[in-house]
Amino acid sequence: MDPSSPIRRRGLLVGAAGAAAGGAVSRWAGRAGPVTAGPGTILRAQTGPVGIGARTVATWSYGGELPGPQLRAVAGGRAHVRLVNDLPAGTTVHWHGIRLENAMDGAPHVTQHPVPPGSSFDYDFAVPDPGTYFFHSHVGTQLDRGLYGTLVVEDPTEPLAYDAEILVVLDDWLDGVTGTPDDALAHLDHAGGDRLLSSPILGGHAGDVAHPYHLVNGRTPDAPVTLAARPGQRVRLRIVNAAADTAYRVALGGHRLRVTHSDGFPVEPVTGDALLIGMGERYDALVTVGDGAFPLVALAEGKNARGFAVLRTAAGAAPPPTVSVPQLNGRLITVADLRATDAVHLPPGPPDRTVTLSLGERPPGYVWTLNGRAHPDVSRTEVHAGQRVRLVLVNDSSMFHPMHLHGHTFQIRPAAGRGARKDTLIIRPLERFTVDLVADNPGEWMVHCHNLFHGERGMMSVLGYAS
Ligand code: C2O
Ligand code: CU
Repeated sequence: MDPSSPIRRRGLLVGAAGAAAGGAVSRWAGRAGPVTAGPGTILRAQTGPVGIGARTVATWSYGGELPGPQLRAVAGGRAHVRLVNDLPAGTTVHWHGIRLENAMDGAPHVTQHPVPPGSSFDYDFAVPDPGTYFFHSHVGTQLDRGLYGTLVVEDPTEPLAYDAEILVVLDDWLDGVTGTPDDALAHLDHAGGDRLLSSPILGGHAGDVAHPYHLVNGRTPDAPVTLAARPGQRVRLRIVNAAADTAYRVALGGHRLRVTHSDGFPVEPVTGDALLIGMGERYDALVTVGDGAFPLVALAEGKNARGFAVLRTAAGAAPPPTVSVPQLNGRLITVADLRATDAVHLPPGPPDRTVTLSLGERPPGYVWTLNGRAHPDVSRTEVHAGQRVRLVLVNDSSMFHPMHLHGHTFQIRPAAGRGARKDTLIIRPLERFTVDLVADNPGEWMVHCHNLFHGERGMMSVLGYAS
């Protein structure tokens, strides 16, 4: 079936009222289903125990759920969410990937002051583009606790045909197990990253922190979540990497994946056995599910560990979490395979402004830099509204960086052909990417590495509009 054909989805209707018809939307096991992000939607940032499968941890979460709520909105409509801060620290919510108005972006000290303990803040914004997004705290190391959830923006004229959808949220976990994320950062300041972690796919060093668990939808592999579908259904997987320090290689045992979207935006479909997803990236993939119980594995790239869930369409024994999944070593889909569809292609043209960002490090300390400077000592890149801006991202460091730009979706410009539209892009050591964007969303926007510890230790900057 041609995924671009105008056949409407069967069995899945999530309207403005937020009602999921036919039970086709898979829920977090035993937890709440999708919620329309409308007036009355409350996101309560709180402390307290959260079950992650193998154990219960003391952490910070939205409403005691992990992942946080599955929010839905409709493209062309608005999202309205009240953040209530019951944490002992200030917090914000960043709506990762959404081209929203600057004041709602949740960037601390850039677009708003952190919301103090005991206070609330109303996030209320238009959502222009359909796709798979997520949201998370943008203060300090809070993302590496449980302060994240998903935001799916429905397309009222969805061109993709599918029967059901399943959200797959990946996360590396340490909070309440080996200490707090702040402890991990203090250790990095002291001792540097874990040099044993290495991956050829990531061009060398694979991460700085060996998180003790990798979670799929908030569960450890030994007590995995079961994702339900029916045999023969065409399922849209919406995969989100909410991890702090881990890229994942994702595969579904016995199946191939047909990637249709990257960071919310459509690509010419590409079929493979596994896909690589960096921190902050999202991929949508179609899969026609067989009859049985199948392992969904997120290999923690270069870390010799995995996240695990079971996709079940029939009765029978579940595969064990250690099951071998040959697809992990089959044809791997990466960003290099992806091309924007005509609908979202930015016509090529000469840039009005070109900005080079060199990604670096400053040994011997744990310091990461952009153009040689470490946040909060950053140079602000200034653009004018209406300009076509070209960013040249050059990795001069020893590690991969998933670079993220707020408020915009750029397009990768390979030497030949066209690349994908993205807001988060893995750049490996010695790699260089040229990406273009249209400066159509005035404000002050963060540009940073989505490795949480790199961002916290300098790799964070601002792209701002001249007033
Ligand atoms: Cu998801 Cu500034 O980040
Ligand atoms: Cu980085």
